[in-house]
Amino acid sequence: MVRWRSVPSFQRHVFVCINERPADHPKGCCKAKGGVEVRDKLKAELAARGLSKIVRANNAGCLDQCERGVTVVVYPEQVWYGGVTVDDVTEIVESHLVNGRIVARLLLPDQPQLAGKTQLPVLRA
Ligand code: FES
Repeated sequence: MVRWRSVPSFQRHVFVCINERPADHPKGCCKAKGGVEVRDKLKAELAARGLSKIVRANNAGCLDQCERGVTVVVYPEQVWYGGVTVDDVTEIVESHLVNGRIVARLLLPDQPQLAGKTQLPVLRA
């Protein structure tokens, strides 16, 4: 008999590209730029703040922003960050995920869905 687990209710999914390509590939890849370390730091930061049940850190394959990786995208609000390093993770968690403020310095360009937004919904307890 299959035992089903209840479906979690995440308020945010944070996708971190960890795609890997050969070292000589012209596009490069997020894994070579530290994607795995960014993902691991994100998971650790969420756990340390007790947010793991409401925010999910997800591995992602290529998100087609390879030259600007490490690429991180937050749903449901569709905010795309580029050039993310482990040193940026705490700011993304604190500013964006906890306080609903986009980290402007890391935003990828051309995001019309944001339409000048700087404030996003905050996490519900
Ligand atoms: S390899 Fe990360 S966006 Fe393509």
